[in-house]
Amino acid sequence: MSYYKIENLEQYFKHYNKSVREPRKFWSKIASENFTWYQESEKIVEFDMAEAKIKWFVDAKVNIVKNCLDRHLSKRGEKTAIIFEPNNPNDAAEHISYNDLYVRVAKMANVLREQGIQKGDRVCIYLPMIPEIAVSVLACARIGAIHSVVFAGFSASAVAARINDSECKMVITSDGGFRGEKTIDLKGIIDDALTNCKSVETVLVVKRTNTSVSMKPGRDQWLQPLLDTASDNNVAEIMDAEDPLFILYTSGSTGKPKGMVHTTAGYMVYTAYSFKNVFNYEENDVFWCTADIGWITGHSYILYGPLLNGATTVMFEGIPTYPDYSRFWEIIEKHKVTQFYTAPTAIRSLAKENLEYVQKYPLKSLKVIGSVGEPINEEAWHWYNDHVGGKRCPLVDTWWQTETGGILISALAFITPTKPTYASLPLPGIQVVLMDEKRNEIEDNQVAGSLCIKFPWPGIARTIWGDHHRYKETYFSAFPGKYFTGDGALRDEVGYYRITGRVDDIIIVSGHNLGTAPIEDAINEHPAVAESAVVGFPHDVKGNALYGYVILKESGEYRDRTNLTKEINQHISDHIGPIAKLDKIQFVSGLPKTRSGKIMRRILRKIAEGDFSNFGDTTTLLNPEIVDEIKEGKL
Ligand code: WTA
Repeated sequence: MSYYKIENLEQYFKHYNKSVREPRKFWSKIASENFTWYQESEKIVEFDMAEAKIKWFVDAKVNIVKNCLDRHLSKRGEKTAIIFEPNNPNDAAEHISYNDLYVRVAKMANVLREQGIQKGDRVCIYLPMIPEIAVSVLACARIGAIHSVVFAGFSASAVAARINDSECKMVITSDGGFRGEKTIDLKGIIDDALTNCKSVETVLVVKRTNTSVSMKPGRDQWLQPLLDTASDNNVAEIMDAEDPLFILYTSGSTGKPKGMVHTTAGYMVYTAYSFKNVFNYEENDVFWCTADIGWITGHSYILYGPLLNGATTVMFEGIPTYPDYSRFWEIIEKHKVTQFYTAPTAIRSLAKENLEYVQKYPLKSLKVIGSVGEPINEEAWHWYNDHVGGKRCPLVDTWWQTETGGILISALAFITPTKPTYASLPLPGIQVVLMDEKRNEIEDNQVAGSLCIKFPWPGIARTIWGDHHRYKETYFSAFPGKYFTGDGALRDEVGYYRITGRVDDIIIVSGHNLGTAPIEDAINEHPAVAESAVVGFPHDVKGNALYGYVILKESGEYRDRTNLTKEINQHISDHIGPIAKLDKIQFVSGLPKTRSGKIMRRILRKIAEGDFSNFGDTTTLLNPEIVDEIKEGKL
């Protein structure tokens, strides 16, 4: 019996039980039967949860790109690997076959080597959603360089911080990027960033927008001429199972962003397996995930998961609202997309518009629709299910994280019965537990608790780049012996999970994780600001929006608060990026603090939500009177 594809609900339970009872056998069989290895693993897994040390497919040798490309060529060489849909709907879509992609990746891999990049070197990729981002990621993986993709919406100082943290030797960027009607000056942002980055020796520049850019002699080179003369004969690097594959930064609730490190074999096996089963992928399907490759969803389900399965994957350069609100539906129709995977925030923003935008398109090609990134509320769930899925496509609400590498809790399309707002059941291999406040495991159903996983799975991130201690503290210390997700969840009477949201100081805005601390740091950099606190409040489209409480310095120079609000948001844009701007700012004379000096965010959250009832116990506050002042200021 093969374990790779689950055929029905009964089999799901069987596989699940097998994965718990005999995890080594379960994963060893999947790994051995569905991938090509230079050398297979015998030990499969070694771990010490207390030390946060986890290894999968110990001692195996593999190259993930050989599994994504080379092994498909004999059977699927002419099959389309990537459909590139440009920002402008009048520009032709590009169909890149597995043969073409192989050649492009091989040439790029040779260019990287010629430019001195070797196994283990870090390469920062700061590109828009154009084929070169896929080619660059795969070329790095082919030669064993560690890619660190930074979302091309981050500001110069945010990119610089990420480049410096992992000491990238090279940056791959483009002259600019198209986003709806806008053109973004990516090279200019990189130039600014690199004034503070000593490790970068080379910048390769893709031509996309034909905007004029400055090229620094000795550092910057146009990519195309290098590719034109590169050979397409490239020998892939033989990688150890636990060699790092990539670093991807995610917000921490305190301090600097965390460079999550994913390693080669476990990530490969888990993304391929989860892709196949959650989306019920079949050979001639056309899969479209609307995420950006700058986020984990794009890594795992635009690139690696689909390509490992020999699938056709759609890459979209633009935005859902350009040229109008029907762009997503038009693309589904045009490319006969069978699986469509997007975020609740996109659904909510499109659901606000006239129904005709979606009703114009029959969307008959669709078989499965998916959601990721934040809890999907009941209304958005039904709109998506009714108007996009036509009530016939299973809606898979997939819960997972940058840290988990792939989907951990989700319905499996056509197998698990779905329930609105419930991510439903864990995938095989994922031993989910809910913990109570006393750190005990909750056995019952119909309960809420902190969501933890008590056994490692192949896709889990192995460390935080350069800071294993922080990795251990963040994920393995709150509930010793278990991986703590930072999310809260409910379990219903049949064991389905509903994710209720973060229980730490991370706020998810339009599906993007934002830590409150870095935003507060950016606000506090403004010369007029003495102190600040940021909380989330519910927002119709974004899920959560940001509310900032700001204490001004006493100098009184800044009387004009309209300008001040703009300036503060500009500071945030400069330090992090426009995604972290505040929707509301309230100027206050103090913040509610405990006697130990900790801000009571619970109260600030309630005020931001407009809920003035039941602030809970405020007796531990140092300054209880401030609560009334803030409340009145909000009115
Ligand atoms: C949230 C994105 C509810 C959750 C793949 C998690 C979700 C964080 C869901 C990780 C979902 C993601 N339902 N919440 N289906 N999917 N989340 O690292 O709070 O960008 O911890 O990974 O998003 O966000 P990240």
